[in-house]
Amino acid sequence: MAKGTDHIVKAALITGAGAGIGLATAQRLAREGFRVAVNDLDPIKAADVAMSLGKGHIAVPGDVASENDAEQMVDETIGAFGRLDVLVNNAGIGDGAIPALEQQIDRFRRTLSVHADGCFLLSRAAARVMPRGSAIVNLSSIAGQMGIPNRIGYAAAKGAVSMMTRVLACEWAALGIRVNAVAPGYVRTALVDGLIADGQIDAKGIEARTPMRRLAEPVEIADVIAFLVSDQASYVTGAILPVDGGYAAFGAPFDSAEIDVVGGAG
Ligand SMILES: NC(=O)c1ccc[n+]([C@@H]2O[C@H](COP(=O)([O-])OP(=O)(O)OC[C@H]3O[C@@H](n4cnc5c(N)ncnc54)[C@H](O)[C@@H]3O)[C@@H](O)[C@H]2O)c1
Repeated sequence: MAKGTDHIVKAALITGAGAGIGLATAQRLAREGFRVAVNDLDPIKAADVAMSLGKGHIAVPGDVASENDAEQMVDETIGAFGRLDVLVNNAGIGDGAIPALEQQIDRFRRTLSVHADGCFLLSRAAARVMPRGSAIVNLSSIAGQMGIPNRIGYAAAKGAVSMMTRVLACEWAALGIRVNAVAPGYVRTALVDGLIADGQIDAKGIEARTPMRRLAEPVEIADVIAFLVSDQASYVTGAILPVDGGYAAFGAPFDSAEIDVVGGAG
C-alpha cells in the first residue's frame, strides 16, 4: 500500500477459512484491522467464523472450483466493503494419500480442481477489481516441491499452485499486485491431528525428518501470510516461501536428531 493510505480500512478475502490455516489467517488479519470475507464450502463454518471475528466481517460461502461461486464471492466482498486488497487462496483438500496405481481419476481431478482451478478463478476475479498495492498469497506445500510418495493428485495440484504464483507475479507486477506463496510442511490442524490419531500420518517420522523436530502450528503459517501481504514485503513477488521447520532444506541420509552440532550453547 502506498504511503499516506494507512487510514483506509483494507479488505481481505480468505478461502477455506472455516478451519485450520485459513481460520488462523482470518483471525490474524482481522486483528490487524482488515475487514475479512470468510469463504468456506461449508456455509455454517463460514458464517460461524465471520461472526466469531466480530462486527464488520462477512461470510461468502461457495466452492472455489466453481467459476460462478468464485466471481460471486468477489462481488459480495466488493458489495460489502467497497474494495478488495488481499486474497488468500487457502481452500484445499487431500487426495486420499494412496498409491498412484490405485488413485481414481475423479479424486485426482477434484483435487486438481479445488487447488488449481480455485487459485486461478479467485485470482482472476480478484485481480480485475484489486487496487495497486494489493497482494495475493497462495497456499502451496512441500508436496509441490518434493516427490512425496502416495500424493500424486495433491503434488500435481500444489505444483500447479506454485507455478501459477510465479506466472501471475510476472503478469500482475504491472498492475501493482504482488503474488506470493507459502509452502508449509506439516501443520498441526484439526485435520492433521485426526490423521495422526488414525495412524495415516506418522508424526514421529515427520519430526525425525524435520530439523526443527516438530510440526508447525497454524498461527505460524498465518504470521508469514500476514508478512507477505504487508508493506514490509513491498518488494517481494513471485516467491514460494518455505514455512517448514527446515524440511525442504534437509538432505542428509540420516535422522535429523543425529545432526552433529559442535559448540552449541544448548
Ligand atoms: N495442514 C497441513 O499440514 C498443510 C501443509 C501444507 C499445505 N497445506 C495447505 O493449506 C491449506 C489449508 O489447509 P488446512 O490444513 O488448514 O485444511 P483444513 O482441512 O483444516 O481446512 C480447509 C478448509 O477448506 C474448506 N474447503 C475445502 N474445499 C473447499 C472448496 N472447494 N471451496 C471452499 N472451501 C473449501 C474446508 O471446508 C475447510 O474448512 C490447504 O490448501 C492445504 O493444502 C496444509
